[in-house]
Amino acid sequence: MSSLHVEERGMDGAAPAGAEDEASPIEVRGLTMRYGPLVVMENLDFQVERGEIFVIMGGSGSGKSTLLKHLIGLKAPAEGSILFEGEDFLEADEKTRKGILRRMGVLYQNGALWSGLTLAENVALPLEEYTELDARSIDEVVSLKLALVGLRGFEAFYPAEISGGMRKRAALARATALDPEVLFFDEPSSGLDPISASRLDDLILQLRDSFGTTIVVVSHDLDSIFKIADRALFLDIKEKTMTAMGTPEALRESPPSDEVRQFMTRTSETAPSEGHDASRDEKAKTRRHDP
Ligand SMILES: Nc1ncnc2c1ncn2[C@@H]1O[C@H](COP(=O)(O)OP(=O)(O)OP(=O)(O)O)[C@@H](O)[C@H]1O
Ligand SMILES: [Mg+2]
Repeated sequence: MSSLHVEERGMDGAAPAGAEDEASPIEVRGLTMRYGPLVVMENLDFQVERGEIFVIMGGSGSGKSTLLKHLIGLKAPAEGSILFEGEDFLEADEKTRKGILRRMGVLYQNGALWSGLTLAENVALPLEEYTELDARSIDEVVSLKLALVGLRGFEAFYPAEISGGMRKRAALARATALDPEVLFFDEPSSGLDPISASRLDDLILQLRDSFGTTIVVVSHDLDSIFKIADRALFLDIKEKTMTAMGTPEALRESPPSDEVRQFMTRTSETAPSEGHDASRDEKAKTRRHDP
């Protein structure tokens, strides 16, 4: 990890957040991730600061989604550990684990809403499962959460009746139903047209600014990374480890390796993709690379 470029920064330029006596929302120590014999990444060490938008970037297949699975406790480290608010998920008892899960919100890469349920019913699910709220209170929270993502009046719609961007926003309303302290997103803008993607980015920024939510986003969308990331981590496929961490601007101005430079300054033609996606091509046309 000799080439690791770490940029120290505090929120709003103040002293670095996360004083010694307060645990970071997420701390990753010496993490190695594997699927059987396949080592995906080794020696990952980083902390996510409270109230920041932290982006995990890297090419397709570098292990971004796999890292997210580790962070939310869906996959166990082959080596190393992950602490959520100072607690090791794997070593925690059942009750603590449930408590940790309740404090997280997740939007998966292909995260879908239940197609047979209305938007209101979808958002109500976690409230019914995890809270003691009565039906009326649940209705109120559901309406509020849908209004916050610009879907007031769409309570009774089914997912198939609304656009892709609206579905993502409804999924966001569901992920925030329990007011999570930490929100995880896998590729929020994938498959969206540029306007819908930008709107989703605005909502992500709003969650950080209005509610102080700590947000971890997996992305290889440069527009989005520059718009929302406080800090970003780069997973290098060839090195099988993280080779950079810092603000997107700093990583673009002084990239620690050719891979990072290419990633941060690439044009759409060389961008990693998840297969052909017309909306992404459309997006590439409007992409701007100059500061
Ligand atoms: N369930 C699995 N079993 C075995 N190998 C897997 C599994 N899931 C992912 N992999 C492999 O692990 C590596 C990392 O995959 P991962 O999905 O985390 O990459 P990614 O960075 O999210 O890629 P993308 O940008 O395409 O979403 C890839 O080589 C992939 O083939
Ligand atoms: Mg992925």
